[in-house]
Amino acid sequence: MTVYAKVIGTGGYLPEAIKTNEDISKTVDTSDEWIFERTGIKKRHIAADDETASSMAEIAAKQAIEAAAIDANDIDLIIVSTGTPDNVYPSTACLLQHRLGNKKAVAFDIQAACSGSVFSLDIATQYIKSGAAKTVLIVGAEICSRIVDWTDRGTCILFGDGAAAMLLQASEEAGVLSTHIHSDGGFEELLKCPNPQAASDKTAEQGYISMKGNEVFKVAVNTLGKIVDETLTANNLDKSAIDWLVPHQANSRIIAATAKKLKMSMEQVVLTLEEQGNTSSASVLLAFNTAVRDGRIQRGQVVLLEAFGAGFTWGSALIKY
Ligand code: ACO
Repeated sequence: MTVYAKVIGTGGYLPEAIKTNEDISKTVDTSDEWIFERTGIKKRHIAADDETASSMAEIAAKQAIEAAAIDANDIDLIIVSTGTPDNVYPSTACLLQHRLGNKKAVAFDIQAACSGSVFSLDIATQYIKSGAAKTVLIVGAEICSRIVDWTDRGTCILFGDGAAAMLLQASEEAGVLSTHIHSDGGFEELLKCPNPQAASDKTAEQGYISMKGNEVFKVAVNTLGKIVDETLTANNLDKSAIDWLVPHQANSRIIAATAKKLKMSMEQVVLTLEEQGNTSSASVLLAFNTAVRDGRIQRGQVVLLEAFGAGFTWGSALIKY
């Protein structure tokens, strides 16, 4: 009998405060027109001072638990991907486990930058298929606004805060059809966010994202094109079999290039970028949750998720929902 990891519930959370392109253009030399034309972003959500990755993760996770109609103690593995953990340790996943009142799960964080959602999905699937776990909660939770240099117009226009969750459970019914994850560690200088706590020589810049945007852009377009081919080939599927593309929400021009490669109309692409910006490892799960809750993604449909981020890391997941 083939065991699949089936999506049984999703959830999402966006902080209340919103920063628009107009707001940003009051503090750095940019404009709403430039940002929207070059990125597709209009606004992003910003966490309140008392919010943390674990507090946002809790809200998203509880929604997913409610949607799946399970008990928090049914979960036997919790994976949180975040670039903005509450602490160096304990992990945000352990804090989330405690917030959920779960006593049974193994909980750990992973770090794969914006690809964290797809990496978590891959790990969850491997655990379920091997029989090591039955019910897995994956969460992407990010407070990008705290690691963005708000004086750098090349990066501060892009990122937003949010959290999203997905529950997966062992099932005989088709679920995750395949996952594909990759890393190439040779690109630190194109995109990084150093850890000031671990630096011997602490300077303010060490806590912020720095990016050579146009170089990242070129690699991202090329790499995501290849991952689409890899996913279709592994499943022996034609492009036409994909009902929905749920991409990492980094840049509308990168997303459009991937959709074109799949010969998909933009109506089949789930876009949250305009309202949310790039929420790093939360973005794919937030977009998936949005399209499930608004009824676009229906049971039985085939959904391609893909992401690209610092490392570089990249990956995809093909899901029969
Ligand atoms: N407003 C106005 N002008 C700007 C802004 C801005 N906010 N930012 C840059 N510019 C200027 C530059 O200074 C440059 O001016 P110059 O020609 O006089 O030197 C010009 O615009 C062009 O700059 P580019 O960097 O070439 O602009 P580009 O079209 O590449 O857009 C962007 C920049 C939006 C950052 C794009 O490169 C991008 O989206 N890159 C990919 C991001 C990504 O996918 N990251 C991976 C995931 S994130 C993660 O893992 C954490």
